[in-house]
Amino acid sequence: MLTIKDLSVRYPTGTLALDGVSLSLAAGEFVAIVGPSGCGKSTLLKVAAGLLAPTEGSVAKTSDHIGFVFQDPTLLPWRSVRKNVELIGELRGMSRDDRQKAATEAIAKVGLSDFAQDRPSTLSGGMRMRASLARTLITRPELMLFDEPFGALDELTRAKLCDDVQTLFVADQFAGLLVTHSISEAVYLAERVLVMTDRPGRFAGEVPVPFDYPRPPDIRYTPEFAKTTAGVYSLLQPPSTSEDGK
Ligand SMILES: Nc1ncnc2c1ncn2[C@@H]1O[C@H](COP(=O)(O)OP(=O)(O)O)[C@@H](O)[C@H]1O
Ligand SMILES: [Mg+2]
Repeated sequence: MLTIKDLSVRYPTGTLALDGVSLSLAAGEFVAIVGPSGCGKSTLLKVAAGLLAPTEGSVAKTSDHIGFVFQDPTLLPWRSVRKNVELIGELRGMSRDDRQKAATEAIAKVGLSDFAQDRPSTLSGGMRMRASLARTLITRPELMLFDEPFGALDELTRAKLCDDVQTLFVADQFAGLLVTHSISEAVYLAERVLVMTDRPGRFAGEVPVPFDYPRPPDIRYTPEFAKTTAGVYSLLQPPSTSEDGK
């Protein structure tokens, strides 16, 4: 689905954001990336989406049907949920019937059918994020890129939205690449978790997640889950040196 080889990105300001990153994502696979703030995670997703060109290295995709979900739901405030969800269909020249049907379906999938006529300002943060997900789903993406999509939400809403993303993933079978700084979110959703180092970002390692889908929400409280999150956490720690503690 997505193959990135020896990718380096240097911004015009001189900042080297990524240095020699390789990654491959199979169709229908869900991979999470965790790493410290500023290590180049968003840069990597932008390159994957084709929004930013590599300085060095290559990016290959088998599909251009890409959905991008950001932390900010970026809904148009003067449009209803339905009209926001229809927007990308409008821009892509889908017929009115097709986009209305697709919007109805996408809105139902994220549980917002009763709020389709409402404006974003009347919705909670979690509901706005659902509307943003529905808007992305309308194009039936084969690759979904998530850039810390739930970072601004409270813990309960966040956990519920993770469940919803998993349900959508199991139903629609897109490939998913999720950037998050929540280790438990990464382990809950992904088949493997890639850990990035401080900038310039490289991969410090990878932790496989030993659970099948669908995963019940309370899997988060099992010893196996804790062991997996501990594995990710240990990769995030910088290697200790003999000077430590002095
Ligand atoms: N448009 C830009 N121009 C210059 N530097 C940038 C730009 N975008 C990001 N950076 C820098 O590149 C590094 C990686 O940024 P980013 O990919 O946003 O990190 P992350 O998403 O992991 O927090 C940071 O040091 C950031 O300041
Ligand atoms: Mg970022």
